[in-house]
Amino acid sequence: MGADPDRFAANVFARMFAMKPTLRELFPAELSGLRRSFVDVVDHVLTSIAAPDGHSELIEFLAQLGRDHRKYGVVSEHYWLMYDALMSEFQQAFGSGWTDDVEETVGQAMLLTTGVMRGAAESAAEPAHWEARVVQKFSITRDRAVIRLIATGPTPVYAAGQYLETQIPQWPRTWRNLSPAIPSNENGELEFHVRAIPGGRVSRTIVSDTQVGDVWTFAQRHGTMHLDPAKPALLIAGGTGLAPLRSLLIDFAQYAQPAPVHLFYGAQYPGELYELGVLSQLARTNPWLTVTAVTEHPDDPWWLPDATDPRQWGLEMKYGRVGEVAVAYGDWSDRQVLIAGPAPMIFHTALHLRAAGVDPEAIQHDPLN
Ligand SMILES: Cc1cc2nc3c(=O)[nH]c(=O)nc-3n(C[C@H](O)[C@H](O)[C@H](O)COP(=O)(O)OP(=O)(O)OC[C@H]3O[C@@H](n4cnc5c(N)ncnc54)[C@H](O)[C@@H]3O)c2cc1C
Ligand code: HEM
Repeated sequence: MGADPDRFAANVFARMFAMKPTLRELFPAELSGLRRSFVDVVDHVLTSIAAPDGHSELIEFLAQLGRDHRKYGVVSEHYWLMYDALMSEFQQAFGSGWTDDVEETVGQAMLLTTGVMRGAAESAAEPAHWEARVVQKFSITRDRAVIRLIATGPTPVYAAGQYLETQIPQWPRTWRNLSPAIPSNENGELEFHVRAIPGGRVSRTIVSDTQVGDVWTFAQRHGTMHLDPAKPALLIAGGTGLAPLRSLLIDFAQYAQPAPVHLFYGAQYPGELYELGVLSQLARTNPWLTVTAVTEHPDDPWWLPDATDPRQWGLEMKYGRVGEVAVAYGDWSDRQVLIAGPAPMIFHTALHLRAAGVDPEAIQHDPLN
């Protein structure tokens, strides 16, 4: 790829579009971000193949990428075009250095990349995408909403704690990850808690424009967060990060006698702790669950005028940053720990936990972006 990876990627795409012009329609207008991630993957493949181990991780990574590509409308024949485009551009980039040996090495690597992606997409057991219709939407605060949907086809399958690639009708071809707040169920019901990020395209549209009747599209499910019922657990949720943990708790409630779970649920202001009613009910009916509510500020600001006072739920309240309050609360060294929330909150909480002696292997969270 040489000195100019961006040009390399641009040329590969240009070669592929020249072979089949309709492929351009699968892509967004702006390709600079994609060019960067595309080159990163090609680079990662060439580096990993040369390394003595780590090949099985590489294969699993490419297989996942191939399964994920189905949602873009990519089909098997496209991978052959991509292979040809890559090989022509590598030949061009290497110039006189394009020897038989180089061709053999690069050819094997690109055949592996496109082959694994194609094979995984062809053999994927789950559908490339499925749909659900919005049946209810309500606002929690000015920048948060709960959206409930029902699948229009067969019951969706995902494990509690996983997240789903999601596309809304107002933003075609734009995918965002959202975590269901309830486990999958035979009625095909789904619930999401969405916070509008300042300047955020999809999240702001969901909170302000989503209406009953909108049809959302879902693709791959991801994520490995899970709760082992035999081990005591510490759960730390910031804001709408509660969603995957809520789903896990609801799922967990079906076990006869699970180990104790302590949930710290935090927000900036008391009026943003929108789920305390549900959580206090869950804690009342499930003695293994303890809930501590945490806010950075003791009182609500003027723009949260109608918020309910969380103290009415009879739950313990603490003040500070949720991660720091949770870590300082007790000794968690025997616990499995799950953290969900904004990326900086996850990052700092994990650091504090490690400093407090929690085994890094015991800490789970979703990818930070
Ligand atoms: C595993 C996972 C699960 C998720 N689950 C949920 C969920 O259940 N509910 C939910 O509301 N969101 C969830 N998110 C976040 C969601 O996927 C989007 O990233 C978020 O809604 C922003 O998308 P957007 O299109 O509105 O913003 P964009 O238009 O993509 O971004 C606009 C600006 O905001 C910045 N930005 C993007 N994301 C964030 C962020 N999280 N915090 C602060 N700034 C940001 C960008 O850098 C950019 O500058 C999850 C993310 C991950 C990785
Ligand atoms: C060598 C094989 C390929 C690699 C390494 C690759 C890599 C990537 C990467 C890293 C992304 C970023 C998003 C994601 O992770 O899904 C992406 C997105 C995408 N790819 Fe590929 N890809 C390959 C083949 C193809 C082929 C053959 C097509 C179709 C002709 C294609 C079409 C797309 C589209 C449409 C997107 C989404 C762009 C967007 O909406 O931002 N890819 N690809």
